[in-house]
Order: sequence, then structure tokens, then C-alpha cells
Amino acid sequence: VSVLLISGSTRGASTNTSLLRTAARLDPTLVLYDALAALPHFNPDDDTADLPQPVADLRKAVAGAEAIVFCTPEYAGTLPGSFKNLLDWLVGGMEIADKPVAWINVAADAHRGGGAISTLETVLGYVQARVVDEACVRIPVARDAVNADGLIEDAGVRSTLLDAIAELRSHASRS
Ligand SMILES: Cc1cc2nc3c(=O)[nH]c(=O)nc-3n(C[C@H](O)[C@H](O)[C@H](O)COP(=O)(O)O)c2cc1C
Repeated sequence: VSVLLISGSTRGASTNTSLLRTAARLDPTLVLYDALAALPHFNPDDDTADLPQPVADLRKAVAGAEAIVFCTPEYAGTLPGSFKNLLDWLVGGMEIADKPVAWINVAADAHRGGGAISTLETVLGYVQARVVDEACVRIPVARDAVNADGLIEDAGVRSTLLDAIAELRSHASRS
């Protein structure tokens, strides 16, 4: 099952991106989407057959994936604007409809991040993605857990991460 990993953060030392990069390093079959910052602002006028190249690339990556993992920070109680922008570009194409998806939340404090999770679930429902609840997990990651290579070495984090992705894959292969 091909899995696309999408981080909602554009920050260089992002804990969210580092978690997904770690997954891709541990399992090279996983594909890390890395062009969030290159997407133009969503404008319905530009959602035509002649899409901006970064949008065409995004839609192709989503269409080609059999499952998707999202890992996003919370900004001001909801999703970061740049990540919501990515999701807005997916509304028109509907490549994500019926696709098994999961979220992983890395907020270091378990009481945080709930606004991002609930907004993400609202949007995923709107685009008719299939959220696999059993694969959605909180994996707290502190900023100092990210090493100089942008990877997370903690064995517990790594095993929970791979278990969640395996759960998503198992659901996707059964559907
Ligand atoms: C502008 C801004 C707003 C934030 N708002 C929230 C918030 O509402 N709730 C929260 O739990 N964390 C909030 N945070 C903290 C981020 O979620 C946290 O720094 C997270 O680690 C960022 O993810 P990253 O490491 O992947 O960049 C905010 C951070 C920034 C920069």
C-alpha cells in the first residue's frame, strides 16, 4: 500500500515534518510530500485544467497514494493557513475522496492540538476522505527530540509511529 506523508508545518526544524521524515527514513516506501511552501494561494479562478505546476504535482501525489498520513501543528486554535491552503486545493479535484487517511499529532502536551485535530477532521469529512480512527494517534515530540539531521531517534516514538502506519496500511489493503 503506497502511503503519502503530509506535514502541515513549513518550519525548518518542524517536529511534525521531522516525525514524518523519520518514518520515510525507516521505511523508504513511504513518500514525504515536501512542497507545501511552494503552493500558490488557493483561488477558485486558478482551479482549471491548466493548474499551477505545484498544484498539479500535489494532486498527482495524492491521486497516486493509496493512503495518506497528515501531521500538523495547531496555530491559533486551528490549522496553519498554509496547510489549510493545501487542503483547499484538494477540494476541487477530490482525489482524496474515499481514500483511507490518518492524523498523527505531535503536540508535546496532550491537552494541546485538539483544535487542529477537529478542524482537520471537519475538512477531511468534507472531502470525503475515510479517516481510519485506529491509525490516528498522539505521539508527543519535544523540540529537542529532533536531531541535527531532522530525525527523531527515540525508539518509543519510532515504534508507535510505524505501528500507526501499519494500521493504516492494513485498513487500506482490506478496503
Ligand atoms: C503562530 C503560532 C500559533 C500557535 N498556536 C497554537 C495553538 O493555538 N495551540 C497549540 O497547541 N499550539 C500552538 N502553537 C504552537 C505550535 O503548535 C507548536 O510550536 C508546534 O510545535 C509547531 O509545529 P512544528 O514544530 O511542526 O513547526 C502555535 C505556534 C505558532 C507559531
